[in-house]
Amino acid sequence: MEKTLIIIKPDAVKNKHIGDIIARIEKEGFQILGMKYKQLSRADAEGFYAEHKERPFFGSLCDFMTSGPVVVAALKAEGAIAKWRTLIGATDPAQADEGTIRKLYAESKEANAVHGSDSVESAEREIKFHFQDSELV
Ligand code: RTP
Ligand code: MG
Repeated sequence: MEKTLIIIKPDAVKNKHIGDIIARIEKEGFQILGMKYKQLSRADAEGFYAEHKERPFFGSLCDFMTSGPVVVAALKAEGAIAKWRTLIGATDPAQADEGTIRKLYAESKEANAVHGSDSVESAEREIKFHFQDSELV
């Protein structure tokens, strides 16, 4: 079994898709280890996306990620990392497959509804970033 960290981003929260996305998480068979509704600070967003700090979109990404509350969750499933990334679709919703979460709910390449860890190492770092051990079931 593998773990992954997912975020329901500010656009999807603002557009009232929290319920739709959590329903999909349950339907696809992920086990929820932890879940929080929170407002990210600037330092949270910059730390979380530190790997992108040299990218031209970094400032705008951090503005977006702090523009409203998010839902962060740690999920567990067989092959959870790839399973979630397949389910959410391409970064740009215009390129995402039909039926994927980004195709259904994202506004743009930046405001793209959800995040998913991209490796076992990032999942471990990202889960630790948002959850203490005592907050995980
Ligand atoms: P994520 O990390 O959020 O799951 O998304 P991802 O792996 O599909 O994409 P990544 O390359 O890691 O980019 C992180 C987030 O930055 C925003 N972005 N904007 N304007 C742009 O060209 C651009 N490229 C990326 C998106 O919010 C993307 O999810
Ligand atoms: Mg990424």
